[in-house]
Amino acid sequence: AVERTFVMIKPDAVKRGLVGEIIARFERKGLKIKALKMKWLTREEAEKLYEVHRGKPFFEELVEFITSGPVVAMILEGDSAVEVVRLMIGPTDGRKAPPGTIRGDFALDIGANVIHASDSKESFEREYKVFFSDNEIVGDY
Ligand code: CMP
Repeated sequence: AVERTFVMIKPDAVKRGLVGEIIARFERKGLKIKALKMKWLTREEAEKLYEVHRGKPFFEELVEFITSGPVVAMILEGDSAVEVVRLMIGPTDGRKAPPGTIRGDFALDIGANVIHASDSKESFEREYKVFFSDNEIVGDY
């Protein structure tokens, strides 16, 4: 079924100039960009985005990192988009992510791991709203 998912290119990847290369992979795969934005998150926005991790030992480090520079957020659409994008980005730890995945090819850390993508339809519904209002999602094209 056609789904939407939320993707965020993290500050490490923006600083390293990997934005174009990462977006190109999603385009080549056949996923459709439905919304796209560059934004420097506030602490409040970062805590909201990652609220499910509040209380975990790495939460403070995570919020510091994700607010350390601008990120590039997007909504992607396509068949089984949530699962497909998670497969494309690979496991959280860049050291364990297989070559060929985005983290496998570009990340060597668990915190500075280049990219985030929703892990479920429910996460997508919560996460995209931190960046986008519904009128910023383009219609069919
Ligand atoms: P992400 O997919 O954005 O979802 C939550 C993030 O928390 C995850 O990627 C990692 O970047 C980060 N994270 C998870 N575990 C750790 C950890 N042990 N130390 C630092 N950051 C972590």
